[in-house]
Amino acid sequence: MSELLQVATEAAREAGKFLKESVGKVKTVEAKSGEVRNLVSEIDRGSEERIIRHIKTRFPDHSILAEESGGNMGSADYRWIIDPLDGTTNFLHGVPIFCVTIGVERKGEIVAGVVYDPNGGEQFTAEKGRGAYLNGQRISVSRSSELINSLIVTGFPYDLAAHPRVAEYFVRFLNASRGLRRLGSAALDLAYVAAGRFDGYWENVLQPWDMAAGVLLVEEAGGRISDFDGKHTSVYQKQVLASNGTIHDEMVRVLSGR
Ligand code: IPD
Ligand code: CA
Ligand code: CA
Repeated sequence: MSELLQVATEAAREAGKFLKESVGKVKTVEAKSGEVRNLVSEIDRGSEERIIRHIKTRFPDHSILAEESGGNMGSADYRWIIDPLDGTTNFLHGVPIFCVTIGVERKGEIVAGVVYDPNGGEQFTAEKGRGAYLNGQRISVSRSSELINSLIVTGFPYDLAAHPRVAEYFVRFLNASRGLRRLGSAALDLAYVAAGRFDGYWENVLQPWDMAAGVLLVEEAGGRISDFDGKHTSVYQKQVLASNGTIHDEMVRVLSGR
């Protein structure tokens, strides 16, 4: 394991422990940027502080892009992209489906990532060109070859009015697949595609910190990442379509309505 990934996993585990111990102890919940469903508490911020402190002690010159600190700090070749609590709504309701996720970008390319689920004790890791792992064991995407035999997962944007096609996509996939799930954590959705638990995932409005580690996990597990048209994308474009590769074109067709 590279030093980058080592530091990422240490930070994720420290923050994950803090999250798990903080369930049910939240004092203040606020709505972010006027969006009534987009919530944050002092626990999101406490987790983020722990992660950044850990990274800064080892790599003081690296840049940070973290959800709660509001934007981009620094301009180094390495940028740490951090979601200190992915699945905030679940966390606030005591639903044990949330995680910490950290991706490391080098000159615009994601080179390492971790998704850590403190409830299940599952640590998903990937490094560019070195495969994807769950608790140290190599993982790969599923072999499902048809959408009708595939289990699909998705997520909904907080601002539903701005994205009226969400329900339409949902109904189409409900009809075209074996089943549809909504976990409430984009990073875990992607990690589960990498591990072959889900065969495909789409979501319309994500931020870089939701998917930086997850897209690398899927690619390193042998899967495919694109936008809804099947075209190359990056973590800075909001749409993501992830799959085992085999059912990808079928998913693109469903999204296009053809
Ligand atoms: C959210 C979760 C959710 C997804 C949202 C994200 P947060 O992240 O990943 O599954 O549907 O788009 O914003 O707010 O819990 O960090
Ligand atoms: Ca998130
Ligand atoms: Ca978050």
